[in-house]
Amino acid sequence: MAEQHDDRFIKVRLNSLHANAPIPFDLYVLINNKQIHYLRAGGNLEQEKLSKFESKAPDNFYVKIEDRAAFKTYVHEKINSGQLTSKEKAVILRESSLTLIEELFESEDINRALNESKPIINHLIELMDSEPEAMSHLVGLSSHDFYTYTHSLDVGVYSLGLAKVLGFSKDDLAHMGQGAIFHDVGKRQVSIEIITKIGPLNDVEWAQMQKHPQYGLVILSEHNASDEVKACCFEHHESMAGNGYPQQLQPHEIHPMAKIIALADTFDALTTQRSYNKPMRPAAALDFMKNKLASRYDPEMLRALYEVLFHMQKTTGT
Ligand SMILES: [Fe+2]
Ligand SMILES: [Fe+2]
Repeated sequence: MAEQHDDRFIKVRLNSLHANAPIPFDLYVLINNKQIHYLRAGGNLEQEKLSKFESKAPDNFYVKIEDRAAFKTYVHEKINSGQLTSKEKAVILRESSLTLIEELFESEDINRALNESKPIINHLIELMDSEPEAMSHLVGLSSHDFYTYTHSLDVGVYSLGLAKVLGFSKDDLAHMGQGAIFHDVGKRQVSIEIITKIGPLNDVEWAQMQKHPQYGLVILSEHNASDEVKACCFEHHESMAGNGYPQQLQPHEIHPMAKIIALADTFDALTTQRSYNKPMRPAAALDFMKNKLASRYDPEMLRALYEVLFHMQKTTGT
């Protein structure tokens, strides 16, 4: 059963908390759809307890909405503390980003979502700069489930990796990250039955689904998103072969950031479990894109994707 969304709490993933150090906010667990107080602020979460949670209890904690600033500061301090390995930093950053992105996707307040995505992206960019290995871990941690928010974060991680290899400026990286996180925002307007349907879509459903770039553009224009972010959303299903949607743009007409998202988007879709396909291994997905789909992508960017993922293989051994 779908769990109810309670506005008074935000969901905090287990892995975004670090064991054996005081947690500066109250923690709650969800039992029978009710948040039950679990740990008082200042209490320690012992590794043993955390492991038990991992194996049998709900995989989330909850934090009161008024403590979200404290949660963010906690994550920020953990990542900057110098006590963690780059893998641990990557796990905490990924999990805490997912918490916030999930919340952004459920919130009606798109302005807030756009603003709050900025620090998430800055964290990713900073970590990518200061610790390239952490970035590789982030790539390696990509989820194998397909939800709009995990997909959005993973597309964000791949796109930032690609944009960095391609020499984008710091400012452009910030737009790139935001464009990636919001590229599918228009799916809010597509019915949930279509989004979660098992098996192929019929013509009517497919026509609906293909409207998500337009829907997204409308949402983002109403909320003053940057031109780059709007282009990422509106043009990420365009193709270098000229037969993408919704505009059938020619290669030179497609925004470079949208070209990057197109690559990251397909790579993520091929390597994640969706209702109707088996996930491919990263190397197989890349080969498939190179051999079967090459005409859709910018060749230089496709090569850069090899570089991003090859680096990942070297450092994480996956
Ligand atoms: Fe899309
Ligand atoms: Fe997508």
